Amino acid sequence: MPGFSAWRVLDVIWETADACSLVLDAPLTYAPGQYLTVRTPAGVRSYSLASSPFVDAAPVVTVKRVRNGPVSNWICDHVRPGDRLEVTAPAGDFTPASLDDDLLLLAGGSGITPIMGIIRSIRARGQGRPVLIYANRDADSIIFGRELDGLLPVVHWLDRERGLPTAAGLARLLRPYRDREAFVCGPEAFVEVAEKALGLAGVPAARVHIERFTPTSSGEPAPAGPAAVPGPAEGPGPGPASASASASASASSAMTAVVPAADSGVAPVLPAADGEGMAVLPAADGGVTAVLPAAEGGVTAEVTMDGRTHVLPWPAGRRLLDVIIDAGLNPPYSCRQGQCGACAVRMTGGEVDLIHNEILEEEDFAEGYILACQAVPRSSTVSVTYF
Ligand SMILES: Cc1cc2nc3c(=O)[nH]c(=O)nc-3n(C[C@H](O)[C@H](O)[C@H](O)COP(=O)(O)OP(=O)(O)OC[C@H]3O[C@@H](n4cnc5c(N)ncnc54)[C@H](O)[C@@H]3O)c2cc1C
Ligand code: FES
Repeated sequence: MPGFSAWRVLDVIWETADACSLVLDAPLTYAPGQYLTVRTPAGVRSYSLASSPFVDAAPVVTVKRVRNGPVSNWICDHVRPGDRLEVTAPAGDFTPASLDDDLLLLAGGSGITPIMGIIRSIRARGQGRPVLIYANRDADSIIFGRELDGLLPVVHWLDRERGLPTAAGLARLLRPYRDREAFVCGPEAFVEVAEKALGLAGVPAARVHIERFTPTSSGEPAPAGPAAVPGPAEGPGPGPASASASASASASSAMTAVVPAADSGVAPVLPAADGEGMAVLPAADGGVTAVLPAAEGGVTAEVTMDGRTHVLPWPAGRRLLDVIIDAGLNPPYSCRQGQCGACAVRMTGGEVDLIHNEILEEEDFAEGYILACQAVPRSSTVSVTYF
């Protein structure tokens, strides 16, 4: 987990010079606004479904190039009709409660993708009369421009004409719709300014739904500390986390996933080398690797990646993904919010708390998977293996 399945790409449609839609021959069940996580040779990232489950015969994701971004550019450069693309099951909760509500939609650049899925769904199945405020660099960057203009009232914000969106400027535009439920999607800079604008206009946070395309740093303080939920430590072997750790039940709760170290098959940590505070582990291929200063009396992460095991000090307050990235390794991840599953890794020893989980289910815990972006340690050593 998360389980990737390979599906044929039926078509590649260029929406703008730097954004393409991939039509997948995949029998997916999804809600408007959900996303898939895609695995490519360049990395793992999430992409929202621009299609509507009520209208479109095949699911569609739309990918916009990000400057120097490995995955978006790999997809735009390499994927062709007839290729196979590895994706997970749809996930996410950026979905309106009712298609009959009059929604206020705010999108920045590629953030139009899930909003397009919502708009198409409202038009097919709902009575809602949404309005859209859509920010782009210039007219040529507008994705789905012609279709949108035929579907709903759109206020276009073009940076080339008005400068970057400002909170005051957006607030002026959205004030007439401030009684509505708001859906905001885009890169972090746009989301930040849109959130401020909604606040200025008096839209309560409880009515604001946000899908962030750029990962927030996971270094922020953990929400009130992870509450431990009994894990599978009671039984022998890598059993599942407790029933309360199922994805659906755990949208906002923390949990504990526990895998007995005895089962790990990972070579034990050797005594610190030469008493110099360095921990050394024999690599799976026999070579010694990953020698980093061990946190004195602290927690250690043993991370096996590409056949090598790295022993990393795990500073307090950091999550496993941060520890691995800080060490210069290149783990897969996307949302950093416990939503997409891109960072899933198999825990072979130790115990962790997951701060937040919307994707792993009981059977995933049974196989030992945890989310690196949400894992904080409960044992002094935690061992994980990338698959
Ligand atoms: C839930 C979810 C849904 C998403 N849906 C879509 C989608 O429908 N279409 C789409 O094109 N992208 C979408 N993204 C973003 C996508 O997952 C990748 O982050 C993006 O394609 C960049 O990946 P990369 O490997 O090319 O570049 P990275 O190396 O990941 O990013 C390079 C730099 O660009 C920043 N960045 C990342 N994404 C963006 C962005 N969209 N705009 C501006 N800067 C960015 C990063 O913070 C980083 O600084 C979604 C992300 C999430 C978490
Ligand atoms: S990166 Fe998305 S769940 Fe961890």
